[in-house]
Amino acid sequence: MQDKPKLKFPKKFLWGAATAAHQVEGKTHNQWSVWELENAKSKAAQAEYHYDDVPSWSRVKHQAKSPTNYVSGQAADHYHRYEEDFDLLQKMNMNAFRFSVEWSRVEPEEGAWNVEAVEHYRTYARELKRRGIEPVVTLFHFTLPVWFTVKGGFEKRRNVHHFVEFSERIIRELGTDIRFIITVNEPEVYAFESYWLGNWPPNKTGFYSWWRVTNNLAYAHKKAAAAIHNINRRYKVSIAKNSCYFYPGDDAWLSRVSAHVMQYFQDDYTLRKVAKHCDFLGVNYYLSNRVYGYRIHSPEEKVSDLGWDLAPASIQYVLERLHDKYHLPMIICENGLADGEDNERQWWLTQTLIGMQKAMDGGVELQGYLHWSLLDNFEWDKGKWPRFGLVAVDYKTQQRTLRPSAIWFGKIIKHLREGN
Ligand code: FCB
Repeated sequence: MQDKPKLKFPKKFLWGAATAAHQVEGKTHNQWSVWELENAKSKAAQAEYHYDDVPSWSRVKHQAKSPTNYVSGQAADHYHRYEEDFDLLQKMNMNAFRFSVEWSRVEPEEGAWNVEAVEHYRTYARELKRRGIEPVVTLFHFTLPVWFTVKGGFEKRRNVHHFVEFSERIIRELGTDIRFIITVNEPEVYAFESYWLGNWPPNKTGFYSWWRVTNNLAYAHKKAAAAIHNINRRYKVSIAKNSCYFYPGDDAWLSRVSAHVMQYFQDDYTLRKVAKHCDFLGVNYYLSNRVYGYRIHSPEEKVSDLGWDLAPASIQYVLERLHDKYHLPMIICENGLADGEDNERQWWLTQTLIGMQKAMDGGVELQGYLHWSLLDNFEWDKGKWPRFGLVAVDYKTQQRTLRPSAIWFGKIIKHLREGN
């Protein structure tokens, strides 16, 4: 049995949820939406091969085998329904919200700035502030304007200045309604999936392109952070780092060394380059990995709809390790699970809160928790069947329904905010 600390969070703690433009807004035109149309049929055809062993398969297979699942299309139509969605944040007593600005909307052609789209995001951020909800804005969350990828995207160092210019310009536009900024979401995940494994656009599989993208994204963060600080030093800038917790499953020398090496490549390879250019550390936590020899095998009691092993309490060790190494305040920028039936979300959240509290009791400076996700959304190469939302979305009617865990979490947040 896990001992339960008393939950006591700082007065200014940010309680919220996270999204990314392409996953919720609908009708985006970027490198990813182009790729979806080219690949939807083959993805649907391969679904059974990839997913028939996940526990949710019988429930989700109809959707997973349909090509429309792999096209973001209208997604959750958040671009038009954001006020309704902000109402939901308030229903859950949240005071923070993470979203991304879709670069392809504000600069659809190189150098051509779309004033309507800019105005949209200005109104959007202002509306959050008006409601007492702190915006946390992401500038690159896996999607890019087509013109930028035609030039070679982040594979080319000489393209980075385009991203820096976009970053500087949009932050000037958003002005004082914004304080917390994530330049790049999970740079190492993007580089790995898109340039090493070849799962995501542009489906490359070379060591050299992976290495270049990884380094260029670190460089892009550094340059964008400098440009943003140049506007105003009060902006708090970071990347969102996906962190897993690796630990040896037995006492063997090889298991211990492998866990250590894997942890290094997961976290430190990127963070060593960017941490000194961060005001805080954005942390995304989903997984822990138990290492036997040089293999990962993490049989947890519970798994998500995607088959991911669930170890929410280990967030404590992730936070403690990052604190000890980088000495930065942290905000959890993503954390959650695919759970369409809402069987495990409340348990997950409970374990996570306990883990966060223990880390804080041990000296970690934690400033916020943003759950992934507010809404069911378009989960990249897997499409719409994985359900990460505190809020269920019916994609036919766009009706939103708070899941029971969301109602429960809203009460907990109220209690924790009042307790201070
Ligand atoms: C993270 C991504 C986020 C979402 C979750 C499930 O790696 O940043 O957009 O897809 O995984």
